[in-house]
Amino acid sequence: MAPLAGDFSLLRGEPPLEYLARANQLQAQGKDMVRFEIGQPDFDTPENVKNVAREALKEGFTHYVPSLGIPELIEAIRDDIEKTRGFRPDKKQVMVLPGAKPGIFFGLMTTVAMGDEVIYQNPFYFQYDSLIGYMGARKVEIPLYEKDEFRVTPEQIQEKITGDTKLILLNSPQNPTGGVLKKGDVEAIAEMAEENDAYILSDEIYSKMLYDGEKHHSPAYLDQCRERTIIVDGFSKAYSMTGWRLGYMIAPEEIIHKTHNLFADVASCTTSFVQKGGVEALKNGQGFVDHIMEHFTRRREAVVKGLNEVPGFSCIYPKGAFYAFPNIKETGMSSEELANHMIQEGVCLLPGTAFGSQGEGYLRLSYARSVEEINKGIEKMKTAMEKVL
Ligand SMILES: Cc1ncc(COP(=O)(O)O)c(C=O)c1O
Repeated sequence: MAPLAGDFSLLRGEPPLEYLARANQLQAQGKDMVRFEIGQPDFDTPENVKNVAREALKEGFTHYVPSLGIPELIEAIRDDIEKTRGFRPDKKQVMVLPGAKPGIFFGLMTTVAMGDEVIYQNPFYFQYDSLIGYMGARKVEIPLYEKDEFRVTPEQIQEKITGDTKLILLNSPQNPTGGVLKKGDVEAIAEMAEENDAYILSDEIYSKMLYDGEKHHSPAYLDQCRERTIIVDGFSKAYSMTGWRLGYMIAPEEIIHKTHNLFADVASCTTSFVQKGGVEALKNGQGFVDHIMEHFTRRREAVVKGLNEVPGFSCIYPKGAFYAFPNIKETGMSSEELANHMIQEGVCLLPGTAFGSQGEGYLRLSYARSVEEINKGIEKMKTAMEKVL
């Protein structure tokens, strides 16, 4: 048989699911568990969004729609990009997809060939590493450091960028660390990409989830996604719509054209009535985003303060998203040992190493939980550490 298109042995799957399954099993056996493993907001999807989708179903909006997305949603996305990124993409630069993840997939598939260099950060969102490996691209990893608040610096990229660099993958706010890129750094990186004729794939799924007055800065400011920048964003996080599967990419026309053809072969279109919900979220969802960010701000305070009281832990404030990434080096245990110990003690979280080698010495907690649950989890962690230190 001829070789398959990619190396399937390099696909990573979803590491949190393994911990989730173990926590479910312990819970089923009657163990009281506090769950910090999964990266999804615990709020219901806003009622107005659900109502619009219900209405669309009632009206029979249940058939194939254009592969690029319904015109109403494309317009709403253009409006939102204009408001949040300061430029209005052309209609031909927008493609609706079933989530941000397909945007990452198609962004890589349409730009990177086997052997091309891709620069990305470690720790990373696992999908990146999985797909870059699968595609046979050359991995150029840049370590993120706590001393830099887990921000990649332009100097680090300058050191690694070469004529063979095809794409730089950015993610700000970042999963798993909550790191947020600064304006000057984003600008320097965008300029470097231009000088070296590299693409930038910018995963901006957490761009509406910022703290401390931080602002989102997209590398698309330079080319407005006309030449080299691909923005990927979606509805899962800020509008609590993970199960709806809805996202989009803004990209140069030729990349949209290729994605369009490939996506038509894969799935024909994104679910029709779901897209109507997306229009409502973008048009009338800011109140909801503000509401959940008020909660996340209180939760962030509880989780960071609490983690700093756990023996052997220290934790900086994440600037965006809803993940805490505490340093556990003082405990003398590895990330995996500690995550395994915690799960036995009734706290499910992830080892930093689920997100790459640079995650050693750290844990990741998704604080999409009530303050009460966070406090309960912290108490369990303190007890758990007293047993081993
Ligand atoms: C950085 C990052 N990108 C993309 C996604 C996936 O988003 P979606 O549900 O829109 O596919 C996630 C989800 O955890 C994420 O953390």
